[in-house]
Amino acid sequence: MFVSENLGVNEKGHLTVGGTDTVDLAAQYGTPLYVMDEELIRKNLRSFHNSMNKYYNGMGEVHFASKAFSCLEMCRIVADEGDGLDAVSIGELYTAVKAGFPMEKVGFHGNNKTDEELRYALETGVGHIIVDNIPELHRLETIAKDMGKKPHIMFRIKPGIDAHTHKAVMTGQIDSKFGFALETGEAFEAVKEAVACENVELYGVHCHIGSQIFDIEPFEAAAKTMLGFIAKIKNELNYEIKGLNLGGGFGIKYLEKDDPQPFEVFLERVSGVVRSECEKLGIAQPRMYIEPGRSIVGSAGITLYTVGARKEIPNIRTYVSIDGGMPDNPRYILYQSEYEAVVANKADQPRDEKVTIAGRCCESGDLIGENMPLQHAESGDTLAVLATGAYNFSMAMTYNRLQRPAVVFVNKGESRIAVKRESLDDIIRNDV
Ligand code: LLP
Repeated sequence: MFVSENLGVNEKGHLTVGGTDTVDLAAQYGTPLYVMDEELIRKNLRSFHNSMNKYYNGMGEVHFASKAFSCLEMCRIVADEGDGLDAVSIGELYTAVKAGFPMEKVGFHGNNKTDEELRYALETGVGHIIVDNIPELHRLETIAKDMGKKPHIMFRIKPGIDAHTHKAVMTGQIDSKFGFALETGEAFEAVKEAVACENVELYGVHCHIGSQIFDIEPFEAAAKTMLGFIAKIKNELNYEIKGLNLGGGFGIKYLEKDDPQPFEVFLERVSGVVRSECEKLGIAQPRMYIEPGRSIVGSAGITLYTVGARKEIPNIRTYVSIDGGMPDNPRYILYQSEYEAVVANKADQPRDEKVTIAGRCCESGDLIGENMPLQHAESGDTLAVLATGAYNFSMAMTYNRLQRPAVVFVNKGESRIAVKRESLDDIIRNDV
């Protein structure tokens, strides 16, 4: 009935998430409100790491891409599940450190890391630094020497795979700001340089072909290409690459028509390709890393709003305005991403109207979506936008000096606050 398996309707006709009444949540914590279902997050993490055990003999790690959703409580849950993290800034690293995360299970990314970030990564003992470019390799070599460390690094490679997804989230093709190109020989030259470095150890290679990808073929193709590269390094430089990181990007269900494959199938097929290619190429099976973000948290989250004004413009459209919008969910204005929405207090009624859901910013493009099927929404109703767990809270902003919403975790009918709503004083905290 709904796009995410953790949603339902209770005897009051209210939408539930993880067994909790969403209308009660809105009343208790206020709106706008991000709600995350802990049980589904844990289930998603387990389906990846259990499949890694089943199909790849446990010779791998699942690193949750914290850019999709990062806060102390999320880091604690990932640590408790025994998984790792992908962090992409000093802020994401700091969050992990403060949550007591085992930093040796963290991969540190970024196409333009600062010296301060590299130093912090070494100081806190991150497991791998994923190096993006030659100047960064040189800076890291100097900083590592200075600090008396020898970090493990991976190289971010552009495998030249075209993943069929929105152009803003495509990253594996040659025209990308991320990483070293394979086809120009740039990546191989970089490997030669890294192998000669005294203060870093080239441990692995990494690729990430894009995000919200439904097909498994591009991942299989990327794995093959990367293994070919590992074999070339072995044959021509007599150097063994021990780690293969295939990034994230697995698509989730936002709309009824979306039909993602189960994560297990993804890992079964990709592991199969890795094993058979290794045999064919005569190389040892690398340790495998994956970095799912959206697929861990996307379906586990919803956002609750209160409906305010309703504007019916005859023969044009009906606007339903809510108390949030682009600042808490910028994905429509950025990517024209589509969502499903439900009037939470009328969830047992048919969605027989088509409306535009508008935010409250001084910006005409501030919409959650257009032409969205919805129950008849009136002022005071609670609106739920579904599958907002990824890249909503983490991309939230404070345009118009709006306060960022609170985050609540639910678990089997219980709720608890994980991030407080910003106060007015938070808004002026750094003003002098
Ligand atoms: N690993 C790397 C190196 C990445 O760059 C990303 C995402 C991931 C893993 C996780 O990908 P996921 O499993 O979440 O697809 N803001 C955009 C998505 C940007 C993704 C950036 N990189 C959105 O809202 O759709």
